[in-house]
Amino acid sequence: MISLTRRYRFPAAHALRRGDWSEAENERAYGKCANPRGHGHDYAVEITVSGALDPRSGRLVDPAALDAVVEEAVLRRFGHRMLNEDPLFAERVPTAEHIAVAVHALLAAPLAERAGVALRGVRVRETRNNTFDFGDVR
Ligand code: NI
Repeated sequence: MISLTRRYRFPAAHALRRGDWSEAENERAYGKCANPRGHGHDYAVEITVSGALDPRSGRLVDPAALDAVVEEAVLRRFGHRMLNEDPLFAERVPTAEHIAVAVHALLAAPLAERAGVALRGVRVRETRNNTFDFGDVR
């Protein structure tokens, strides 16, 4: 099986807090990250896709087609936004874990339909020290 991993970046802000928890509970769970004013990250997202190799082009997928889907479904939606305000995070705290799950949900169908590849995994790098993986790759 051939797979391709491609990396994208988007800056976004979030606050790690639940509306149904008290200030003390939020601070106990998330520390400084619970501050309601939010804080920013320069997120890096790696998308791993797999599929059939086209014997003529020698390629798995046209990177431009991949970029168009990711740009439209994820980068434009999350880039330069307060993630807590996105409906996808209305019921879920926008942790990097939930961002990885959300990116997977946003991309799986359009990547299959418009780029002809299966989404295998999503990796979200939030800080120098924290990287999260969702999916069955790696
Ligand atoms: Ni944060």
